[in-house]
Amino acid sequence: MPTARRSPEAHGQQSPVKGQPPAAAGSVAAPDTLVPRVIGIVGAGRMGSALASLAAGASIRVLVTKSATTAPPREGSENTSLLVEGASLDDVIGRSEAVVLALPYDRVETLPALAFRGALVIDAMNAWPPPRKDNSTESRSGLRERGTSVSVERFLRGAHVVKALNHLSYRDLATLSTPRGSPNRVAVPIAGDRTSDLLGVAALIDSLGYDCVVAGALEDGLRMEPGSEAFGLIADKARLREALSRRHTAEPLDSSLEGTVAA
Ligand SMILES: NC(=O)c1ccc[n+]([C@@H]2O[C@H](COP(=O)([O-])OP(=O)(O)OC[C@H]3O[C@@H](n4cnc5c(N)ncnc54)[C@H](OP(=O)(O)O)[C@@H]3O)[C@@H](O)[C@H]2O)c1
Repeated sequence: MPTARRSPEAHGQQSPVKGQPPAAAGSVAAPDTLVPRVIGIVGAGRMGSALASLAAGASIRVLVTKSATTAPPREGSENTSLLVEGASLDDVIGRSEAVVLALPYDRVETLPALAFRGALVIDAMNAWPPPRKDNSTESRSGLRERGTSVSVERFLRGAHVVKALNHLSYRDLATLSTPRGSPNRVAVPIAGDRTSDLLGVAALIDSLGYDCVVAGALEDGLRMEPGSEAFGLIADKARLREALSRRHTAEPLDSSLEGTVAA
């Protein structure tokens, strides 16, 4: 049975280095074998529904939880063809190979953190309004310095968090998907601390119809958040890479994973 839990090897694979994602390990399986067969989505609003439609179109089973954490998953939403099974958030996490957080960022702390221990979690959220320089509370200034995903990983202790799928609008995401190898295929930035997690998420994104650019370690998720040059950018890999680099010019991007996922 598939599961979002990461293997023990994945836990200790790489240490985070800001601006330098871990190099792809030679032992990582070919990308197509990493495409999850089942994903969970927490939040069945505009973003969750768009993602669910894309995934269903790629023959990936989708398990969705809406609103209350103890509520059973709901059957789809208006304009999607969600494949919904499961009985609770625990069940959805347990049965999915990756879980996408597509709920409002300020609702994350309503989630039962322990349920995500060891799970591969994709943070597709943006903090609205974006934190300002004069935000005095620790949580808001932390967001400004490190982005949402570092905070999410701290809260969901033991989860493997990758920042991804947050930089395009749900409408763009739903409509710009193209098969691998298409000219000017739109690219999506991802950020995370472990090679195995990045490869799994890249394989998923490829199957959803997008190329990937690795922006860096988890805190480099800032490079793709609101206020960054990359946020909202509809571009191929080369242009997206440029935009991500201009955000932190002193820290060159590592392209090693792209070759691996472009197989
Ligand atoms: N909209 C976009 O174009 C876009 C693009 C990129 C990223 N994002 C990010 O995606 C996230 C969702 O945005 P959205 O536009 O889809 O918002 P939305 O349409 O308002 O949907 C949010 C969904 O999350 C559900 N939810 C709230 N708390 C929950 C919980 N504890 N457990 C499970 N589900 C919960 C809500 O259910 P109830 O209504 O029943 O509470 C609602 O269905 C946000 O973080 C946003 O920044 C959005």
